[in-house]
Amino acid sequence: MTLRKIVTLPEPVLRRKAKPVTKFDKDLQTLIDDMVETMREAPGVGLAAPQIGLSERLIVVEYYEKEEDEENEEAPKKVWAVLNPEIVKASEEKILGVEGCLSIPNLVGEVERHVEVQIKGLNRHGKPMKIKARGWLARIFQHEIDHLNGILFPDRATRVWQPPQEVEEEKEF
Ligand code: NI
Repeated sequence: MTLRKIVTLPEPVLRRKAKPVTKFDKDLQTLIDDMVETMREAPGVGLAAPQIGLSERLIVVEYYEKEEDEENEEAPKKVWAVLNPEIVKASEEKILGVEGCLSIPNLVGEVERHVEVQIKGLNRHGKPMKIKARGWLARIFQHEIDHLNGILFPDRATRVWQPPQEVEEEKEF
């Protein structure tokens, strides 16, 4: 596996609408594995292909599957790789949370997100998949899918600021 370089603002690829993935070949498998490794090394809880300079609709996420496990450090995290992800359902209920982004160093922002979302997409082999996410996991998916449309968290933030210390791992994606 190879670590990929994470690009940061004002890199134009971060503002482009990414293209759907259509080829589910060996190169794609390598790319997904590289993205997971790059996300872990960063460290972060999610990464979208435009963040490594590729304008393709591909995201990886690593987090607790159940909202109640967020407080439990022993709970295992799950890894998702989703191609061409789409939000097909979103709760009316929204919640504010503080986010950072690996492509925007030294900035965090308070962003309102849906509490629950349902996501449809393809897995790494091109098979349809559906994900139901709540809480912070739902926030991560919303943040990553925004990346595929050239949207960055400050675009949605009610306020942004420079944190006094390094941003916590769980807030960067
Ligand atoms: Ni991000």
